[in-house]
Amino acid sequence: GIDIAPLRTTTGDVAYDPGFMNTANTKSAITYIDGDEGILRYRGYPIEQLAEHSTYLEVAYLLINGELPTTGQLDNFVSSVERRTLLDERFKQLFDGFPRNAHPMRVMQAGVSALSTFYQDSLDPFDEDQVRLSTYRLLAKIPTMAAYARRVSQGHALMYPDNRLSLIENFLRLTFGFPVEDYIADPIVVEAMEKLLILHADHEQNCSASAVRLVGSAQADLFTSISAGIGALSGPAHGGANAAVMEMLDGIRASGTDPRQFMEKVKNKEKGVRLMGFGHRVYKNYDPRAKIVKKIADDVLERLGVHDERLELAMQLEEIALKDDYFIERKLYPNVDFYTGLIYKAIGFPTDMFTVLFAIGRTPGWIAQWDEMIHDPETKIGRPRQVYIGHTERTYQPMSART
Ligand code: ACO
Repeated sequence: GIDIAPLRTTTGDVAYDPGFMNTANTKSAITYIDGDEGILRYRGYPIEQLAEHSTYLEVAYLLINGELPTTGQLDNFVSSVERRTLLDERFKQLFDGFPRNAHPMRVMQAGVSALSTFYQDSLDPFDEDQVRLSTYRLLAKIPTMAAYARRVSQGHALMYPDNRLSLIENFLRLTFGFPVEDYIADPIVVEAMEKLLILHADHEQNCSASAVRLVGSAQADLFTSISAGIGALSGPAHGGANAAVMEMLDGIRASGTDPRQFMEKVKNKEKGVRLMGFGHRVYKNYDPRAKIVKKIADDVLERLGVHDERLELAMQLEEIALKDDYFIERKLYPNVDFYTGLIYKAIGFPTDMFTVLFAIGRTPGWIAQWDEMIHDPETKIGRPRQVYIGHTERTYQPMSART
């Protein structure tokens, strides 16, 4: 819990609040969450309505600019993004340099970080035109890099984007298009991807958004700040949970463990095992995204004619949890990641691409958070205090005097 004022300094009392459970680092007008009621809104619009009616790039526009676009504004935004999917040719050498078994998330983080070396004309955080340009570049090039990261791990040649296609169609073709050069994305898959990217687009001051803001508060450029966000997202307690859910489901099936037996292990905290995809720092009722994801999973698997026994297993685990006091008392419900992996699998993505997909979706949120931070006159460089518990002053000992 929070421990107010274990430390007094010239600038005031210092609160000890591990994990920032009760510390607001900023005021924000982007995303509203009510964790007790299970409410999520971007710029005031309920996530359910956006997932139903909007597109990923329209939501990106909304998050970054604060308002839904008119037709003209959206056309301009979409074409400004979609014509920038190509990467500098020398990126090929960068990607060629990674080992075959490199995790696509790490490859993507390195690629995004490298954007700041290739696109030096858009690094000034205080120049609006440059920030706009780097925004288009990030939205366009992150999906290309994500697809390339996947191809690197397979040892496949890189393909060029085809900018007659939409951003999502292009991404799917770049990922799955080899050796089928004339790959055309299934509209069912495109629609599911639009919705999933919308659901992941922002989530206020989560770990990766906070990382982006913290790095940006030192006035680092947008590319560098976003690469820090990708690093944070890669952890299993954050974005990496979607892959961890799939590994958990595969593990249960491979070992032939009964779902009830597995849940006993979770409750007994055997070797720290958790029910991945369950629980959330803020949602203590339910995660509204999880409801939408479950529906997409049902739709996509049915429409693609995929039968995946892991869906049944996941539903069994959820059913057990919803009736069990351990989970009820701790207010643990499925989060957005519990069912996403099953959709990604049905589409054909390998498990190590799941968090990469999350990163594509979260890009507009990171940009909006960084932009809000840069324009906020109250922004200061992020610099938490500590409660020091180490030695008091000691006198240096020469090597000969040490035992
Ligand atoms: N399975 C079993 N027990 C759990 C789980 C879980 N998934 N999550 C929390 N608990 C238990 C903890 O053991 C703890 O129990 P205790 O009170 O007996 O010590 C209690 O519930 C509170 O848990 P904390 O870890 O203190 O809660 P916190 O808010 O710090 O953690 C988190 C939230 C990290 C999401 C946690 O629920 C978790 O590890 N979940 C699994 C990983 C996951 O799905 N992450 C994705 C988050 S959503 C996202 O990033 C998109």
